[in-house]
Amino acid sequence: MELNAILQYQLLKRKEEGNWRELKYNKDLIDFSSNDYLGFARNSNLKLKAQEILKNHEDSNRINGATGSRLISGQYPLYEKVEKYIASFHHAESALIFNSGYNANLGFFSCIPQKGDTILFDRLIHASIHDGIRLSKAQAMAFKHNNAKHLNELKEYATGNVFVVAESIYSMDGDAAPIEELIKVCKKNAWYLVIDEAHALGVYGNKNGGLIDNKSLADACFARLYTFGKAIGAHGAAIVGSKLLTDYLINFSRPFIYTTALPPEALASIQAAYQYLPLANEESECLRKNIQLFKELMLQNQITTTESNSAIQCMLIPGNEQVNRTAIQLQSKGFDIRAIRSPTVKKGSERLRICLHSFNSEEEIKNLINACNGLF
Ligand SMILES: Cc1ncc(COP(=O)(O)O)c(C=O)c1O
Repeated sequence: MELNAILQYQLLKRKEEGNWRELKYNKDLIDFSSNDYLGFARNSNLKLKAQEILKNHEDSNRINGATGSRLISGQYPLYEKVEKYIASFHHAESALIFNSGYNANLGFFSCIPQKGDTILFDRLIHASIHDGIRLSKAQAMAFKHNNAKHLNELKEYATGNVFVVAESIYSMDGDAAPIEELIKVCKKNAWYLVIDEAHALGVYGNKNGGLIDNKSLADACFARLYTFGKAIGAHGAAIVGSKLLTDYLINFSRPFIYTTALPPEALASIQAAYQYLPLANEESECLRKNIQLFKELMLQNQITTTESNSAIQCMLIPGNEQVNRTAIQLQSKGFDIRAIRSPTVKKGSERLRICLHSFNSEEEIKNLINACNGLF
């Protein structure tokens, strides 16, 4: 078949399956969809702080772009400073910044597990980890979601060094991983635990630093991923762990090596946000109250959500068309709520993914629940 005809056919099929995707800018709607949990992306004080950091940045040849990959011309002092800060903040020996969380997961899984090794992953892990695993020469197997017992049972199939990967807070369900149980299984079998903290950073933990928030938990992980596009309100991601790990990534991780480094503005925003994170008590208190209020009102109104205490709350509405229709209805009432359709989630578990923030008002949450009430 001619190429254009193939592309058109595939797109038509997407439309027929109720899964057409398009880019939308929902300017005036109330934000119940972004990952800006603490409002850092809209915080003008943080912008000023970032500008101050940028002013003191010691490289006048690089005030706009990074000029190259980090191994060629793209390395500059702010990188070293921010990586040191992040490593120490997360109780790790070393941190390495990637251009995004997607890149970091590709970068880790494509090069750290070796041929003959095994990756055991929670069935609900993020697409970026799946894509990293696809690039790996190791074998991979899924364990049942949040089921440490099933994970342990997979040892009979495991070969070589074994990597266990989970998200501390699941991006599409908002539930938490049984971290202590995963650690126990990994310790017992001498397996390497890898935790993606994308949706826990800023929402949980001592100093709002995520669920792995002390030295003993940190030491139990081989590697952790922190993304900056969510509660940090910026862009990029870091893998934290040992110096040996980050040295290896610098030498072998293609998504790290073969791309232009982040610009100084991005690093300054990350630094400003990290410095403020432990002080963001007001934001984290507001977020906590909003999560509690949302859950109470949902219960009162007998609207079922997935089991989650995090900022991510989901209402299952099976069927791409049905969930899409409901999202559009809520958007028409002024709420920015997006449908999560299959194949992003499993067929039959399509959902509305509602993200709560520190800056949502009580009235906005009450109005949203009233609007949902009319739809079910
Ligand atoms: C669990 C998880 N890991 C990684 C990523 C990728 O991060 P980024 O958006 O920085 O590419 C996401 C983004 O949605 C995520 O939810």
